[in-house]
Amino acid sequence: MHKKMKVVLLFDSPYSRPRGYDYHEEFQDIDWDTEYDVFSALEELGHEASLFGLYNDVGMLLEEIREFKPDIIFNLTEVFNQKTHLDKNVASLLEMFEIPYTGASPASLFICNDKALTKKILGYHKVKVPRFYTFYRSRKVKLSKRLKLPLIVKPLCEEASRGISLASVVDNEESLIERLKFTHEKMKLDAIAEEYIDGRELYVSVLGNKRIHVLPTREMKFGQFPEEEPRIATYKAKWDFEYRQRWGIKSVFAGKLPNGADKKIEDICKRAYRALNLQCYARFDIRVTAEGAVYIIEVNANPCIASCDEVAQSAEKFGISYPELIQKIIALGLRRGI
Ligand SMILES: Nc1ncnc2c1ncn2[C@@H]1O[C@H](COP(=O)(O)OP(=O)(O)O)[C@@H](O)[C@H]1O
Ligand SMILES: [Mg+2]
Repeated sequence: MHKKMKVVLLFDSPYSRPRGYDYHEEFQDIDWDTEYDVFSALEELGHEASLFGLYNDVGMLLEEIREFKPDIIFNLTEVFNQKTHLDKNVASLLEMFEIPYTGASPASLFICNDKALTKKILGYHKVKVPRFYTFYRSRKVKLSKRLKLPLIVKPLCEEASRGISLASVVDNEESLIERLKFTHEKMKLDAIAEEYIDGRELYVSVLGNKRIHVLPTREMKFGQFPEEEPRIATYKAKWDFEYRQRWGIKSVFAGKLPNGADKKIEDICKRAYRALNLQCYARFDIRVTAEGAVYIIEVNANPCIASCDEVAQSAEKFGISYPELIQKIIALGLRRGI
């Protein structure tokens, strides 16, 4: 049995609402499924949950903390004032006010937000990552002599496959420059170009602080998607239901992988989790080549935890029901201290 607690469910809101606003109407919308799922689990677990949608009013959040006096904040924020990179500042604020909270620390959020910085650290810890080049808007685009095509061009600090389409994979300098221009000028974002890793697309969820559990591996299957096109999780492949149906793109359990890859993946994910000092839960996006080489493509600190998302699906397979997962995350948030 767990102790009943006062929990503030902190999430992103596209607007400011007064404290105590119940978000009932918003929660009917599928876009709010994570908030709805976690809130329902908190209720089922018997916790006293207070909903707080954060737009840009830090003062009101502090008032909520002072007056509601939560035992812990369940931190679902991914942005502040609609800016992705400010998620770390929200966690910093909680840390400054010495309120226990769930999920990654500000430092891990800062590191994992930057796809190049993350890879530098993982490389230092001998975790295999694709070779990469950074292209900042403030600098002239200069192509390295070592550049090995094909590459995939991505925004340096984005998530959810924003800015990733089939045109992101380039096999000549002209299309590389074109895609960099698109990222810099259209998206107004810095870019990273990584060596393209051909292989299976896997998602590995991890739970824990000191003791780490690697959960069953998920996989994106590309069904009848044309073999000659890069099989990657583009924005459409992730989020466009009709597109997924048309090409038979599906997220499934990977099952047992050949050549001992499961053990390899488990070891790599544990090493990476420790190297980045991740807490509570995280998800690794991985590619495994036909030769069995395992590459970490991306590290997601505070990944999506709606009941239909990879973390919850993997937890369920491992024998952890959704409310149990939410309770575990709370316990891990409390245990790591502040
Ligand atoms: N170096 C790479 N090699 C092969 N595919 C890649 C590479 N980098 C990204 N991808 C593909 O693009 C998808 C999105 O890239 P990722 O770095 O995870 O960005 P996001 O933060 O938007 O999820 C990956 O899931 C993968 O399918
Ligand atoms: Mg990803």
